[in-house]
Amino acid sequence: MIFENHTISSRTTIRSAMETLDSCQIKLCIILDADGHAVRTVSDGDIRRALLEGADLQTPMSYFGAKRPVMLPEDASRQAILETMHAHAIQVVVLCDAKEHPVGLVDRTSLEGMILLSPPHIGMAEMDYIHEAFADNWVAPAGPNLEAFEHRLAEVSGRKSALALSSGTAALHLALRVLDTVPGDRVYVSDLTFVASLQPILYEHAVPVLIDAEPVSWNMSPLALERQLVLDAQAGNLPKAIVVVHLYGQSADMAAILQLANRYGVPVIEDAAESLGATYQNRPSGSHGLLSAFSFNGNKIITTSGGGALVSDRNDLIDRARILATQGRDQADHYQHSQIAYNYRMSNVLAGIGRGQLDLLPDRVAARQGVFRRYRDGLADIPGIGFQSDPENSIGSRWLTVIDLNPDLIDLHPYQFMRSLRAQGIETRPAWKPMHMQPLCQGMRFVPHTGSDAVAPGLFLRSLCLPSGSAMSTAAQDRIIDAVRLIAQEG
Ligand SMILES: Cc1ncc(COP(=O)(O)O)c(C=O)c1O
Repeated sequence: MIFENHTISSRTTIRSAMETLDSCQIKLCIILDADGHAVRTVSDGDIRRALLEGADLQTPMSYFGAKRPVMLPEDASRQAILETMHAHAIQVVVLCDAKEHPVGLVDRTSLEGMILLSPPHIGMAEMDYIHEAFADNWVAPAGPNLEAFEHRLAEVSGRKSALALSSGTAALHLALRVLDTVPGDRVYVSDLTFVASLQPILYEHAVPVLIDAEPVSWNMSPLALERQLVLDAQAGNLPKAIVVVHLYGQSADMAAILQLANRYGVPVIEDAAESLGATYQNRPSGSHGLLSAFSFNGNKIITTSGGGALVSDRNDLIDRARILATQGRDQADHYQHSQIAYNYRMSNVLAGIGRGQLDLLPDRVAARQGVFRRYRDGLADIPGIGFQSDPENSIGSRWLTVIDLNPDLIDLHPYQFMRSLRAQGIETRPAWKPMHMQPLCQGMRFVPHTGSDAVAPGLFLRSLCLPSGSAMSTAAQDRIIDAVRLIAQEG
């Protein structure tokens, strides 16, 4: 319960009420009368509207008139407070003593906690595998959990081999290394993505070429890809590889992309960090390119607290990656090394978490897809809210549900949603900022979807990622839907 410094009088000016609001934890002031009774509450939004109506900084609080706030006795139960918040669609309740003098404020976040974007969803099954590792003293970057995890991951991703690593970024890096990427090589990569898709290209001093998104799945545009391939083929300067991201778990248009890649003989690396469990044309995401990378970061569909994997049908490539992931030791009785290599292996303990998590993958994916459907249905009647679409014959993992806010119909920037939702205890994030707009990528070649029109910047400026965790309750999700609806309508 919070109260200090939240009270003002009817004579307080807008200027000093704004100062009070600035210093308060809960952004709400209570106007008290001479007897210490609540006249009304005033929020930032009330003040903004008053200023728009013509009030100025010297206008006193009496301007707002009287409107008794929703109050509960100071000993009200958590349940009673939450029910009152729900019944009145409010985020803060004033608590009062027996004489109805306000004595405290409670907000929803302090009662329910923050709804996070994509928190880890861990159960107890993982503990059995971890326990085995401890009991057998396999606390090392090798062991039965690691082998079992890799075996199962290869099955789940429809591949012959899998290599468990310390991160998805490491997997992408090794994919480039086993393709013999050298300084100056060009590597095409999806423009609308997290920076980890691109960083490993820079580790090798290769040159990224940023391929725009298309507007359906928001993934690599086959149109842009084709234009660039034609140009580079004419110049005799084809890329070493194409890194295709499956954004937020939705597959890229792999049929078109693979057809082009095959036509020009360029290998495809799938960045499937976000799409484990998705299917494209009835095959698992990550089973289409030459090599694919997954991430088991804490915010992903399944997690090993931090980790990743490289998968392929080419056992020789995975064997090479395994050597590169363990300091590149040559086959010799002594320690002999002839190439630059890394310490990228996943530990047997973390692979135990991975085994437990992988057992639950279908549930986790189904839960995220269910979250997406509830958002889609719950927000369907609000004009101007759209979603990423699946390409034909494809079912995305819906790692994150992202809303696309049409500026012609909703006169609010996604950040206004983000701030307002944060104040209500709901964590959201902007969509990934396109690579060609990053300071890191200044001067890099960017290939727009059509000759003149870029798609990724618009998606970035209009979109917002909503909480999508597989353990999120339907009550929490209803709260988010109600909050988004209210902001869209009031805006
Ligand atoms: C699209 C994409 N690629 C690569 C990565 C890198 O994975 P990691 O964090 O495991 O290195 C991530 C996630 O973090 C991602 O979202």
